[in-house]
Amino acid sequence: MNNTYSVELRDVVKKFPTPEGGEVIAVNHVTMQINNGEFFSMLGPSGCGKTTSLRMAAGFEWPTSGEIYIEGEPMMHRPPYLRPVNTVFQSYALFPHMSVADNIAYGLEMERTPRAEINRRVGEVLDMVKLTGMERRKPKQLSGGQQQRVALARSLVKRPKVLLLDEPLGALDLKLRKEMQLELKALQQEVGITFIYVTHDQEEALTMSDRIAVMDHGVVLQVGEPVEIYERPNCRFVADFIGETNFLSGEVRAIESEQVTVYIPSLNDELIGTQATPMQVGDKVAVSVRPEKIHLTEEKSPSINSFPGRVKDTAYIGSDTRLLVDVCGEELVVWEQNKISSIDPTTYYAHDEQIWVVVLPENALILHEG
Ligand SMILES: Nc1ncnc2c1ncn2[C@@H]1O[C@H](COP(=O)(O)OP(=O)(O)O)[C@@H](O)[C@H]1O
Ligand SMILES: [Mg+2]
Repeated sequence: MNNTYSVELRDVVKKFPTPEGGEVIAVNHVTMQINNGEFFSMLGPSGCGKTTSLRMAAGFEWPTSGEIYIEGEPMMHRPPYLRPVNTVFQSYALFPHMSVADNIAYGLEMERTPRAEINRRVGEVLDMVKLTGMERRKPKQLSGGQQQRVALARSLVKRPKVLLLDEPLGALDLKLRKEMQLELKALQQEVGITFIYVTHDQEEALTMSDRIAVMDHGVVLQVGEPVEIYERPNCRFVADFIGETNFLSGEVRAIESEQVTVYIPSLNDELIGTQATPMQVGDKVAVSVRPEKIHLTEEKSPSINSFPGRVKDTAYIGSDTRLLVDVCGEELVVWEQNKISSIDPTTYYAHDEQIWVVVLPENALILHEG
């Protein structure tokens, strides 16, 4: 039997005709395997094909080619209402004239579920989304966050095997969005079903997901756990899209197992880093170094990858001091955490101060250009 995955996209392509007579390839040979009970996110910039992928899983769109399996069964020609999935949209699409309880009960009433069972299940999900006591309110008597909870409850009451969520927190302000991220994650663990979550917000994806698929231009570039995606991006796009980073352009000079020596023309020096994907001597590469992983010292360090620099700018933001350091004309962003304790006294570097920049080879990731 082939039912190891909750949802599987196999080599899925989706093309749309354009009004000009051409076509857009919205999803370009995407393969994804999502496990049972997993919180899986699709992350990427606007237009990269996230919504289209989700809509194909829901059955609102058909693939141009490729296959979709849910719980091991092919979904070919199966309409949305016969799939064990439910979708939560950014626009909650609640019925404005109906109460919270009636909005939630609506789907079960359509299925002619007995009244007593409807009441029991509505009570259950109201409790889950913390709206008990609000069942008689109308949507407009609720805050944005509460309305989104009603939309969630309405989906959960149908007991889907998979919940599909398309930027469900997009309409909320930042503080509420952060609260709801934690709540959603807790709720997913409580109900134990698969969540497939679409977002363009990398911090949101890192906070909530078991695994993330990073997409660009209809293609999945990398699938991995949050730590993997952040610490070991497999290409320049992923390193750039997730978090902040510094890039140095160079050319591979030597390779010794994982360690790669790169010549950086702008520094007129060599830098030793770790290869993200297999490299060859002569390859044009980008060295990615995260701002929090750069060490600054006052004295020249005997360590390799030690370069002289000058502090160009500093910004104290409480938890961190963010510096701009000039190294032979390259500007590096460096974040220093302000621990200020006797174990870890923080040195404040002054504007124009001459310092040394140290990058450990394990923190310098060598990626292919482009
Ligand atoms: N119904 C449609 N007709 C034509 N083009 C579409 C349609 N839906 C999406 N697209 C195009 O497909 C690409 C991917 O869109 P979408 O999946 O909505 O991206 P995302 O959700 O990542 O922002 C975009 O270029 C978009 O303009
Ligand atoms: Mg979208």
